[in-house]
This record gives sequence, C-alpha cells and structure tokens, in this order.
Amino acid sequence: MDIFSQIDLTKSPKHIAIIMDGNGRWAKKQGQERLFGHSIGVDSVRDTLSAAKKIGVKYVTFYAFSTENWGRPQDEVEGLMDLMVKTIANEVPAMNENGAKLWSIGDVSGLPQDCQDELRIAKEKTAQNSTINMILALNYSSRWEITEAIKNIAEKVENGLLKSTEINEKLINEEMNTQHFPDPELLIRTSGEQRLSNFLLWQMAYTEFYFTDVLWPDFREEDLFKAVLEYQHRERRFGQVSEQLI
Ligand code: FPP
Repeated sequence: MDIFSQIDLTKSPKHIAIIMDGNGRWAKKQGQERLFGHSIGVDSVRDTLSAAKKIGVKYVTFYAFSTENWGRPQDEVEGLMDLMVKTIANEVPAMNENGAKLWSIGDVSGLPQDCQDELRIAKEKTAQNSTINMILALNYSSRWEITEAIKNIAEKVENGLLKSTEINEKLINEEMNTQHFPDPELLIRTSGEQRLSNFLLWQMAYTEFYFTDVLWPDFREEDLFKAVLEYQHRERRFGQVSEQLI
C-alpha cells in the first residue's frame, strides 16, 4: 500500500513545524557552494507545503532564518537574504494556487528593507487564502520571542493595565508571535540533527518530535507523509495515562 493511503486524513496534525537542516552538507556532497543547497531547499518547501495541503494540514511553520544565522559568513547571509527576497516574490502565484496564506514570525524589522517589502507585498497578495497557512520564521529565536513577551507584559503591569495575578498561560500565548496559530503537534527536523535550536520552545511543550537523516534539499512529499504516519502511530498522552484518553 502506498504511504499516502495509509494516512488517516481525519487525524492529520493541524500544525507541523519544520527545521530545514542539511542544505550545506547536501551542496557539499554535490561539489557545490552552500547556497546551491539553500536554493534547492526552496523546492522542498514548495513540495512540502503542497503535500501538507493534500492531507489537510492547516499550518506549516518553516524555520528559514534564525537570529543565530547572522553569525554565518557574510556571503552566505547575503545570498540567503537574496534567495529569500526572490523566493517570496516568485512563490506568490503558487501560494495563491494552493490557497496558502503567508505569515511570518520573528523580528522582521531586522531584515533588509527589500526583504521586508517583499514579505509585506506577498502577505497582502495571499491574505484572502484560507486552505493552508505558510508561516516563515525569519530572524526568529524563541528566547527573543519570550523575552519580548515578558517585556510587553511587564509594561502593562507597570502602567496599571494588568495585575500580576492575572498573568496566565492564555495571556502569555497572546503575547507570542504565534498567537493566531495552534501549537504544532509535530516537529520535523531533517539531516540527522536532534536539537531544538531555539525554535518555538514555549509552543512545543507537547509536540511530537520526528528526526530524519534525509537532508532538506532531498525532502519531498513522501518524506512528509512518512513523518505524519509515524506521528499517527504515536500516542499523545499530555501527561495522562492511556486509559484516560479512551
Ligand atoms: C539549514 O541548513 C538551512 C538554513 C539555515 C536555511 C534554510 C532556508 C531555505 C531552505 C530557504 C527557504 C526560503 C524561503 C523563503 C522559504 P544548513 O545550512 O545549516 O546545512 P548544514 O547543517 O548542512 O550546513
């Protein structure tokens, strides 16, 4: 039986978060520059989004550029930013065909101006779509996001708009960049690395982690289906015992 037909479409995760890793190693294996790996990685993003749509996933968050990625060699950072600008602009027709609405999380104000502009335009052009939500984590780090949330809450307390006793998980959620999305049920990280790398730490308290040796530029529809199938075979207990879940 092919892998797609084994998936229970009534139990697809609503939200999948993806750490796209291994572009550099993939390029090296081909005797190419690292940036070539990133550019083929864009094909994987496109394929993954359309595969996610086929199985009814509503949100996919891609970790495209972390705050820590600024520390890479300058030519790689510049190349990645150029790729981002081109990709965001080029992908709008495909996003519209797929009914995909573009969002971003992270400190967009720290990105180059042309990247900010393309992002804004692509968000406007896809704002009416509602089949699937494509979320790009750009200049994102979870500790940055949590720090900003704490600052905002402290300011409200300072200004008398909020009592400290009123702070709860719901209120903290509303201060996160992800306030409009449900928490991811599934995290996928490619390339054999098994770390969170400062990604959605607050949001992934109950997320299932799936690690694969596949390098991101090789990741295709079938790899997403495999991950979802494994997720569906796991039991999510949220701290309870099996019998309580029946
Ligand atoms: C990690 O591989 C990958 C990145 C830091 C960049 C991912 C970005 C893309 C695929 C471009 C996507 C763009 C859009 C707009 C969706 P790595 O370079 O760390 O690989 P390595 O561990 O093998 O060196």
